Amino acid sequence: MSVLQKFDLTGRTAMITGGSRGLGRAMAQALAEAGADLILAGREVDSLSVAARELGQLNRWVGVVVGDVSTPEIAAESCDKVLALGKPIDILVNNVGGRRVDIATEDFPIDEWKKLVDLNLTSALVCCQKIGKPMLARGRGSVINITSIAGPLAIKGIRGRHYETSKAALTGLTRALAADWATRGVRVNAIAPGGFLTDPNKKWYSEKPELRATFEAHIPMGRLGEPSELGPAAVFLASDASSYITGATLVVDGGFTIW
Ligand SMILES: NC(=O)c1ccc[n+]([C@@H]2O[C@H](COP(=O)([O-])OP(=O)(O)OC[C@H]3O[C@@H](n4cnc5c(N)ncnc54)[C@H](OP(=O)(O)O)[C@@H]3O)[C@@H](O)[C@H]2O)c1
Repeated sequence: MSVLQKFDLTGRTAMITGGSRGLGRAMAQALAEAGADLILAGREVDSLSVAARELGQLNRWVGVVVGDVSTPEIAAESCDKVLALGKPIDILVNNVGGRRVDIATEDFPIDEWKKLVDLNLTSALVCCQKIGKPMLARGRGSVINITSIAGPLAIKGIRGRHYETSKAALTGLTRALAADWATRGVRVNAIAPGGFLTDPNKKWYSEKPELRATFEAHIPMGRLGEPSELGPAAVFLASDASSYITGATLVVDGGFTIW
């Protein structure tokens, strides 16, 4: 098998939580371009349908499942719906997450904290349990958890530290599951994105250009990333090209974490 053939995902199926927009959509596109069929999970049927129609133009099978995975019970139900589609999942991308609020830690209401930890951490755990078990039974699979540079770092000038806390924990879960499943054919890795120009970030930075300048000044490459620049990392970790890699975090941040 040539090296480029090792990246080929033909005949595999990938489930991407939050695959309808943003970084999840960009990774879904890259996985489909590499040959994978897709199952996209999200809350809104309209954006899922648009993404499914566009990605279907790559001549791949695309299924959608509607559900808010930030509630563990609904995350489990969403996975059951995915499994009921009858296509064995080879690749699971746990992409849903976000900071969402800008509350000082000393004032953070505990109920809200728990909900946001469920969004960023428990959603991935539930999907790993539900989708990982059949992978273990088949002895084959690749799980990719989308963490953040806010896992090892505290981002300057913003609050909402549930985000740093749960992304760090997701990195820990990635390593621990990778260890537990290493001899059973299922690899578990993470991608830690830096700052990317998703649509909400573009809007946010257009309203606050000084924040964009400050953030970019901290990036050795001097610019934010384009969502499409994350896709190849997902293809690498999903495919046999990374067959001897498990428990790793691939940082894609233009060098943000270098200094
Ligand atoms: N963007 C960045 O610069 C950046 C940097 C570092 C890390 N990350 C991480 O990368 C991941 C994706 O970020 P993003 O900026 O692309 O996210 P986003 O724009 O907030 O969300 C994109 C996708 O997630 C779905 N989604 C959101 N909440 C959901 C929920 N509770 N249940 C089911 N689906 C949900 C959205 O669809 P619906 O709205 O239809 O549900 C959409 O498909 C996150 O884990 C984030 O922490 C992003």
